[in-house]
Amino acid sequence: MQGKHVVITGATDGIGKVTARQLLSRGADLTIISRNPEKLKKVAEELALATQKPAPRTFVADLSLPSEIRRVAGEVMQALPHIHVLINNAGAYFAEREVNAAGLEMTFGLNHVNYFLLTHHLLPHLKKAAGARIVSVSSDAHYGCELDLDDLQGEKSFKGWRAYQRSKLCNILFTRELSERLKGSGVSANCLHPGFVASKFGHNNKGWLNPLIKVGQTIFAISPEKGAETSVYLATAPEVAKVTGRYFSNCREKEVSRQAQDSQVQKRLWLETEKLLAAYL
Ligand SMILES: NC(=O)c1ccc[n+]([C@@H]2O[C@H](COP(=O)([O-])OP(=O)(O)OC[C@H]3O[C@@H](n4cnc5c(N)ncnc54)[C@H](OP(=O)(O)O)[C@@H]3O)[C@@H](O)[C@H]2O)c1
Repeated sequence: MQGKHVVITGATDGIGKVTARQLLSRGADLTIISRNPEKLKKVAEELALATQKPAPRTFVADLSLPSEIRRVAGEVMQALPHIHVLINNAGAYFAEREVNAAGLEMTFGLNHVNYFLLTHHLLPHLKKAAGARIVSVSSDAHYGCELDLDDLQGEKSFKGWRAYQRSKLCNILFTRELSERLKGSGVSANCLHPGFVASKFGHNNKGWLNPLIKVGQTIFAISPEKGAETSVYLATAPEVAKVTGRYFSNCREKEVSRQAQDSQVQKRLWLETEKLLAAYL
């Protein structure tokens, strides 16, 4: 990865932070986008110290907001000549329905719109690098749910976990459609399940859920180091350089749910997302 330009979102904690450390230690020229400037600065210094490499570039953006995504993508493209790897990692679970300043339901906004729009805006730079890779962190949580394409933001009915499952299904549908649209461009797009990881995932929620998630993570979850393995694999391994449109877990390809294989659903989701984001494309 020596000198390769890698952009990763949400690398101030959890799986993203370890992924960033691994890539930096392999010599990548790393750029991190996250929302908290103080935490970003601290993590960048920490990563440089841990790897004895130059500190990553940092950019601040609330990735649930389309205007922020477009702005930060412009700043990243001004700073870098091209991008070899984009890792869409920032994501979260919201137990209650929350709507952000852009009017987006947070799960859909952060977990799907963010991946879609950031990739869209960085694509010209990815196309400039030979054999660029787009890696999106999805989840096995996508099994056992179906998208409601007429209610993507849970306006008619909302359950936090169902919304999260659907957002991770969106990551797979997005990856599959993206890889089709990128045919012949030399850019690949794959997605993955990191495992159930003891990160800060879910800690943003209040009430009884927060301690319950923490206990579950203490007992059942794998370490962020283990959780980052498949992201690092998809970003670096020569054997997947030409693989695209696939879902991985434990560094191995895995079959996705029935609806995740539905090309009609994947195309409709793409069009609905484009329609929603028309002002930001
Ligand atoms: N943990 C699991 O068991 C698990 C399983 C399957 C999939 N995943 C997926 O793995 C990915 C990483 O999650 P994690 O487990 O590492 O969670 P985490 O420890 O909570 O880390 C999430 C990262 O995303 C950043 N982030 C959150 N909201 C943001 C926003 N609005 N704008 C910009 N950055 C934002 C966080 O920034 P701050 O540091 O400022 O909070 C943090 O750096 C997510 O996509 C998640 O869905 C996790």
